[in-house]
Amino acid sequence: DKAGYKHFMAKEIAEQPAVLTRALDAYFADGAIALPEPGLDFSRIERLTLVACGTAFYACLTAKYWFEQLARLPVEVDVASEFRYREPPISPGTAALFVSQSGETADTLAALRYCRDRAETIGAVVNVTESTIARESDLVLPIHAGAEIGVASTKAFTCQLTVLLLLALRAAHARGRLDDAALADKIAGLRALPGLVNHGLAIEEATRDIARRLSEARDILFLGRGIMYPLALEGALKLKEISYIHAEAYASGELKHGPIALVDEHVPVIVMAPRDGLFDKTISNMQEVMARGGRILLVSDATGIREAGDGVWQSLAMPEVDPWLAPILYALPAQLLAYHTAVAKGTDVDQPRNLAKSVTVE
Ligand code: F6R
Repeated sequence: DKAGYKHFMAKEIAEQPAVLTRALDAYFADGAIALPEPGLDFSRIERLTLVACGTAFYACLTAKYWFEQLARLPVEVDVASEFRYREPPISPGTAALFVSQSGETADTLAALRYCRDRAETIGAVVNVTESTIARESDLVLPIHAGAEIGVASTKAFTCQLTVLLLLALRAAHARGRLDDAALADKIAGLRALPGLVNHGLAIEEATRDIARRLSEARDILFLGRGIMYPLALEGALKLKEISYIHAEAYASGELKHGPIALVDEHVPVIVMAPRDGLFDKTISNMQEVMARGGRILLVSDATGIREAGDGVWQSLAMPEVDPWLAPILYALPAQLLAYHTAVAKGTDVDQPRNLAKSVTVE
């Protein structure tokens, strides 16, 4: 049931404030972060391996920043289809987490089985809790997104991010990197996030107008730095899978090492730039693109857009947000731009060509 929306994808984007709240509620007991049994003892774990495909892989890439920066826990991230063929050594103190909306992705399952007798603990971050990946794991961490029907993953992505962030906060506390007060502060920030996401939905009108213009492009670039780099990758994936426009993402600082050769006035460049510690650097990369005639869509908050100065082609003003929460909030413009571009092109948004919701072959 599309509940009055034109597509499941639109409904699932709009549902995010509610499902994020539900996911958060499920992981708190008496004000503390509570994991399902048997839990995960982060004071004993020495490293994390995160494995997934597609959008879930980008959630893992984002989480690497959280685990490493907040908890100082080393993280390796792999696409599942590559993982086991590399025959990676898994050292004894490793927890391996497999992130999958469906819980049935063949490559992710095969990677899990590779880790079975090698990793200390196997965890599943899944939406479908009765799935194979969940059944074969020691610990099941549900993302509580509810059924996701649109082939392009939206609410599952932000719920995956939320659960991974909760784990990172727990790890930071267990490893003595956040004291009780600092943890309480972070938790309060996270609890306020669904409200911010709700405010963020107000960009939809502006997004629709911009998307009409994007729909005429043949190629689109996404840029992000630091923790926004994986989100740029997710934005490009979302756009190409439903609008069929070629899109690529680069770490902002990598642009001048080759891809800037692609830039001319026909290539829109979408810059994901919340006002974090890397903002000035991102803006200077953006100006390099502008100097070559590139058309910039700047996604930041109102102050960031003002500080970035004149000359951008379009901008989208997001609510202000703590930088470590920005990937979850900025998933919205990534999703809405892809959605409205696809609608403007008249593609089959919920059932894009050549794609299946659950990929059960390798
Ligand atoms: C993109 C998308 C896919 C899935 C990928 C993994 O919008 O939906 O990239 O994220 O196929 O699927 P799951 O999470 O079910 O393992």
